[in-house]
Order: sequence, then structure tokens, then C-alpha cells
Amino acid sequence: MKVLFVGDIVGKPGRSILAEELSHIKEEHEIDTVIVNGENAAGGRGITAAIAEELFSYGIDAITMGNHTWDQKELVSYIDKEPRIIRPLNYPPGTPGQGSYIYECKNIPIGVMNLSGRVYLDALDCPFRAAEKEIERLKRETNIILVDFHGEATSEKQAMAWFLDGKVTAVLGTHTHVQTNDARILPMGTAMIADVGMTGPRDSILGRDVKSVVERFLTHMPTRFGVAEGVRQLNAVILDIDHKTGNCLSISYKNVIKE
Ligand SMILES: [Fe+2]
Ligand SMILES: [Fe+2]
Repeated sequence: MKVLFVGDIVGKPGRSILAEELSHIKEEHEIDTVIVNGENAAGGRGITAAIAEELFSYGIDAITMGNHTWDQKELVSYIDKEPRIIRPLNYPPGTPGQGSYIYECKNIPIGVMNLSGRVYLDALDCPFRAAEKEIERLKRETNIILVDFHGEATSEKQAMAWFLDGKVTAVLGTHTHVQTNDARILPMGTAMIADVGMTGPRDSILGRDVKSVVERFLTHMPTRFGVAEGVRQLNAVILDIDHKTGNCLSISYKNVIKE
């Protein structure tokens, strides 16, 4: 079973490179299923119903989110109608939507979970304990569990990967928009990477317009961060999974740069 996991999609540049490249990538690497982080898909801020539909139409099976989940107000009511959009599991009880989702690919159930870190992010419930409890529940239905751990600190993300080694198929970091060079398989068969990176404008600061971000650092005055334009990048990883054990056999980088 081969999974493509795509790092944070930023605005139209991110969506357009995905639209143009996804079918080639799927064919070239014999990808069975695609999961993307979509927390920045709508102009860098959250996701709308229309944009989620657009992404699903490209052949994406699940969309994970992060700290930008509620940037587009319409998602608050839409998320309960669309289980393929997964928000962080460790939000307070009663939060709309779900923190995990199980779907079938080639008659094999696949579980996807989204978690938020707490280092330099909101003080949510403990992601480690929340994950442990949810894995117990998901394991009754599937042995393939893919975790998107949305966090700022590489230490917290590596800690989660080691904590879940042998319990899940992969712990894939998102949020920093900068791909890390630590992708590997841990001793008990769990794949990990601290950050998958970003799918959006390359000549940018985390996907945003360079001039306005530099201006903010220089002046500390409020500035609007628009999505940058120009050359685009797609950052992703490919997982090869043994569906009988749920272990990951390999994790490799898949990056594309395009005018
Ligand atoms: Fe992001
Ligand atoms: Fe984020």
C-alpha cells in the first residue's frame, strides 16, 4: 500500500501545483491513496467547503488541518458534514468535527489522525495522551494509522514519533512549512519526519509575501500577509506500508518545483 502525504497546501499556488502534478505522481509511484494537510488552502487561512471539494476532486482521500482550522467560519458548520476533513484530536471536548477518520482503500481500512502540538501553539489537551487513547479505539478497526502531528517544535514532533513507535504506521509533522531532513523508519516500524514541508509559492516566507513579512519584522506594525506568487513547490513524502502488519517499509521524499 503506497500513500502520498502532501505538506501544508498554501492558497491557489499550492492547489494549482497539486492539480497539475498529482496524476503524474500517482502514476509514477503507483500511489494508492493521497492525504494532504489543508489548513492553509484558502488564501493561507483555513479551508472552505468549495476548496475542500476542489481538493477531493483531484483524487485526495483525506484532509488534515491544524491551528488554522477555524480561520474560515463556514467550516464550523461544514466539518460535521464532511468527515474527510480532520481537525486536531486534542481540541476541547465538544469541538465540532472529528480528530480521526477511517476509510477504505482497496478494501483495506486506513485510519488518519490529526494532532496539534502545544509548544509555541495553543494550550490544548495533551496530544500524547489523546493519541494513545484514540489509537486504542482505531486499532479495533484498522492496523494502518497515519498521524499528522501539527507542531512548531521539532523536539515535540520527534518525541511523539518515538512515543508512538510500533503503535502507528507513521508520525508525519506539519505546520512549520519547512521540510526537515530526518525522515526515517524507527526501530518498531513507524515512519517519521519532523516536518513534511509546504506546497505553495517557493519565493516566499512560509508561503506569504516576502515584502510584507520582512516589513513586519522591521517595524512591528500590523501588515497584511498575502500569499506569494511565482515559482511553486510541492513537498510530500511517500510511504510504503505493509498492510498486514501496519508497519511502514519505507518513507521517501517527493518534491516538485515548477514555474
Ligand atoms: Fe500551515
Ligand atoms: Fe499550522
